[in-house]
Order: sequence, then C-alpha cells, then structure tokens
Amino acid sequence: MTDKTHLVDHITGHRRMRRNRKADWSRRLTQENRLTVDDLIWPIFLVEGSNIIEPIAAMPGVNRLSVDKAVEAAKMAADLGIPALATFPNIDLDLRDDHGSEALNANNLINRATAAIKTQVGNIGVITDVALDPFTSHGHDGILRDGEIVNDETVDQIVRAAVAQADAGSDIIAPSDMMDGRIGAIRKGLDAAGHQNVGIMSYATKFASGHYGPYREAISTAGLLKGDKKTYYIDPANGAEALRDAALDVEEGADMLMVKPGLPYLDICWRIKQAFGLPVYAYQVSGEYTMVKAAAANGWIDGERVMMEQLLCFKRAGCDGILTYFAIEAARILSKS
Ligand code: PBG
Repeated sequence: MTDKTHLVDHITGHRRMRRNRKADWSRRLTQENRLTVDDLIWPIFLVEGSNIIEPIAAMPGVNRLSVDKAVEAAKMAADLGIPALATFPNIDLDLRDDHGSEALNANNLINRATAAIKTQVGNIGVITDVALDPFTSHGHDGILRDGEIVNDETVDQIVRAAVAQADAGSDIIAPSDMMDGRIGAIRKGLDAAGHQNVGIMSYATKFASGHYGPYREAISTAGLLKGDKKTYYIDPANGAEALRDAALDVEEGADMLMVKPGLPYLDICWRIKQAFGLPVYAYQVSGEYTMVKAAAANGWIDGERVMMEQLLCFKRAGCDGILTYFAIEAARILSKS
C-alpha cells in the first residue's frame, strides 16, 4: 500500500474500466461487435457498352461498368466472400422519359446485368433498386404530373418493373422510391408472377438528404432533377415518423429494412432494429463515401482506419449489414486479418 492517496481512488473504487483495455488480448476478448465480410453489400454502377470501366469523378475509386465488366466485378466480390451486390444503372439519356418507361423493358440495362451476373457468377445475391429515377427525364423517383409525383400510378409502374427485375433473376427487390403502399403492392405482384422466393428489402426510411450528391452524378440525374424529393422522402428531423413508415413496410411484407443514409442516422438503425427485429441494413451513401475519400486524399484523416471504424459502428448500431462503396476495400482488409 502506498501512503499517497489519490483522489481518483475514492471516486473509482473497484470500478476501473481500463483493466479490460490493458492489452490486445483483453481488448479482443471483450470486443462486443465485429465486422465481417458477410456484412457487406457492394453497390455498383452500370453503363451501356462493353469493356467499359468509367471513373466517376465525384466518387474516387468507383466506376461505371459495362455488363461484361460488372460480371467480372461480381466474380471478384464473390471470391472475396461478399454476399450480395446492389446494381444501379446509368441509362442513356435518350431512353429517359417523363414516365420512366424504360424501367419496364425486360431487356434494359439493369435486367441484362442481373441475368448475366446470375448466370455467370455463383454464390452472390443480386439486389435491384426499383425506383424510377434512373429512367425518368426529370430525375424523380416517380411519375411527375402537373408538378406532383403521383403516388398510385407510380406504384403500378414500379410493381411491373419489379416483376421484370425478378424475371431477369433478381434475388431481392429494393424499392427506394418511398411511395406509399409500394411494399404490399410489390409483394402481391411478385407472388402473382410466381416469384414467391424473391425478397423485398425496403428502403424503409429514406431521408431527404444532401448526401446523395455524388450518386446523382454517377447515374446522370444531377443535371436533370428539378426541385427536390421532400414530398416523398422523410425529413431528416423526424425519427418517430421514420418508425411509423417502417412499421407500414413491415406490415406490408418487407423481408429486410434499410436505413439511408447511414452514419447520420444510426439512431434510426438502432430504433428500427429494436422495434421490429427484422434484418436491418444501413446504406452508407455516396456522399458519406466521398467525404472519407476526400479527407483521406488531403491527408487529413487516415482513410482506411476511418472506413473500418465507420463500418464497425453500423454493427454497434444494430445493423445486420451495410451497403457500402467500400465493400471491396474492406473485404480485402478483413480477409488479411
Ligand atoms: C433514388 C436513389 C438515391 C440513391 C440510390 N437510389 C437517392 C437519390 O438520388 O435521390 C442514393 C445512393 C447514394 O447516394 O449512394 N432512388
């Protein structure tokens, strides 16, 4: 015993939190959450043509891929153990119209990519977004009439597009449009077409966020979009409303729920996981990716460290997985450790 009595002894008593942190082995032993390759979903961008790998300026390290290159990318992802891809098409501008009718084309870019990946790559899931924004001439997720995104007509169109995606081989339909009633309608449509085994990952809580900027460059909607999406996406201020919206998707038959964007909305991830117990995924969106890349490129943060930390934090917040443009980089690091 020392005769020096420190004030801290009286305060902490026997409760010294640092005992478990004292060594690498004890930190490993007490670690509550872990990121594994099974947690990663890799979003990729598609473009017409062949042998094309087209860099996206606002997303350093991310490219638009022609279908043949997307197949190669899918093989690489599957080899790394990544469970699923999510595909986003950059549709030729002259195929876009105010109804997004190209979304219904059984042979459109996204459907051709799905078919090619599913027939040429084993053991990887394909998740397809079914919103209309890549196909509309105004960049909105639905049909625009007299200045309004019309809900029910959009849902009808989205159901037909979802069935076409399932026909092409999509494993999971992921509607990101935030129209009311879409989950129930898509479930009905899929079942009627014999696609009982095709799942639905609802973009259950999608917020009207500034973090989607680089994505809009990636699929060339940035220059087209007039106005904003506040009449259908959720206000970033609203948590209770987000839960009510997710509850409807659960009732209507969603198999999985997604929160988008990710990091600023970890409270929503946690609340949704606690409330429903369904598998929950965060979409770490383009702007989040780009912020990390930009800061790292300037030498202001350790990009790799921040990437791995952020991905782990999604797990702590209750997520079962993360849609992330970092998927390949993270999987490579995880496969070494
Ligand atoms: C729209 C859609 C968005 C993203 C995917 N699908 C948002 C938008 O453009 O409004 C964003 C993905 C990202 O930022 O990484 N249906």
